[in-house]
Amino acid sequence: MESATFVLFGATGDLAKRKIYPALYNLFVDGKLPESFSLFGLGRREWTDESFQANVEQSVRQFSRREAKNDGSLERFVRAFRYNVLDIGRKEDYARLLERIEQREDALGAPPNRLFYLSVGPEFFETIAANILESGLGSEQGWKRLVIEKPFGHDLPSARELNRKLSQTFAEEEIFRIDHYLGKPMVQKMGALQQANPVIQALWTNRYIANVQITASETVGVEERAGYYDHVGALRDMFQNHMLQLLMMAAIHLPHESSSEQVRFKKQRIMQAVVPLQKQDVAGSVVRGQYAAGAIGGKPVAGYSAEPGIAEDSTNDTFIAARLEIDDIYWRGVPFYIRTGKRMKEKSTRIVVEFKEPLQQPTQGLGTPNLLVFEIGPKEGIRLHLNTKEDGEFKPMRVELHGSQDDVPEAYENLIHDALRGDGTFFAHWDEVELSWQWVQPILDAFAENLVPLHAYAAGSYGPAESDELLARDGYRWWFDE
Ligand code: BG6
Repeated sequence: MESATFVLFGATGDLAKRKIYPALYNLFVDGKLPESFSLFGLGRREWTDESFQANVEQSVRQFSRREAKNDGSLERFVRAFRYNVLDIGRKEDYARLLERIEQREDALGAPPNRLFYLSVGPEFFETIAANILESGLGSEQGWKRLVIEKPFGHDLPSARELNRKLSQTFAEEEIFRIDHYLGKPMVQKMGALQQANPVIQALWTNRYIANVQITASETVGVEERAGYYDHVGALRDMFQNHMLQLLMMAAIHLPHESSSEQVRFKKQRIMQAVVPLQKQDVAGSVVRGQYAAGAIGGKPVAGYSAEPGIAEDSTNDTFIAARLEIDDIYWRGVPFYIRTGKRMKEKSTRIVVEFKEPLQQPTQGLGTPNLLVFEIGPKEGIRLHLNTKEDGEFKPMRVELHGSQDDVPEAYENLIHDALRGDGTFFAHWDEVELSWQWVQPILDAFAENLVPLHAYAAGSYGPAESDELLARDGYRWWFDE
């Protein structure tokens, strides 16, 4: 892999500590970092190289999926780390940073390939990008890449504005938008499973599939993020990005060999084919909920509006369920149901594909529909639900196709590795982000105008009863882990 300098804005922050350093350490142990690799951490705190390295060591020990070995590997790893105090708005700080980076590149004999990772609030993206350009940090002699985290905007107009500003400094192929759901190993396998297996490929159409159910339920509540979450809600926090990405990955049809461009183009085509909602029709296809007091794992928990930092009369959504249709030759007539929520019964991210009843058989008495279940997290696995007959009666039979895997790479490992290699396949392209916002915008408008009722659901439940009705109207039900 080409040598690279990793320039991390927000190096003293929580994401860096919990996700980025542990991910880099695991890549290092697996030999997946470039041979000439340096990391420049940036922040406002008055840290030194030494105190920074000690902090990185500490975070690896605390958060890495692999225990840090006592074989000197952690010491070797942190030797590549440097720290610079930087005020995002101060040009002199960028000039000093450039000087240090150049010295280090010269010492290593490394070309100026620089990856800028913005682990800071989106309100800083524009200033940072402009200062990278002006200071000469984005050298033209090597490559430059920008890695950013959601939220990419707050609605369609603000997302477009953000993109317009960033595109003045970085080309689309230089921007790597992280949606960490795309880094989850099972999500990365979905396209390939369908692409490389005629058994699955042949079934991946409206001829055999009755409906697709995509769930991301969490047991946690708003946690310490009231200030952020109360302004975004489940729709912006999970649905517009993670859930619609899962929809694209579930519905994708790929030719045998496909480039990163083809994958992203196919995803874009799917999003374009999702039937748009009109503001006045949102209430018929979208259920919005907010958790009330209840119990999680037997322990009583407060309702959303009683959480610290949340206004008592908040109408923010902590649960969303929606029914979508993809109007293309593969999926016409197959409803896709999506739901996500906080304070639900279980932590589970999964896609369930429900097959139609056998075409030429009388269906009465024939067990349950065939299901293909992709468990994405917290455990990963693939399961097929079939029917068999015992003592003259049909009985369900579960076949584990791919059992839970231990020690799978974390999403951030896959994504950081890909960004260092310059592979954008599992990053959100601007076209996908824009189309997702476009689809979500009428829902935001309908919520803002109170055209959609807000249903309470007990913490520890599967969400409001109305979410079951969304499926019952079509003659279906949500499938759980049964
Ligand atoms: C984040 C959201 O993007 O994803 C959080 O901001 C949510 O609210 C998290 O808890 C869920 O991620 P995961 O990987 O635990 O399913």
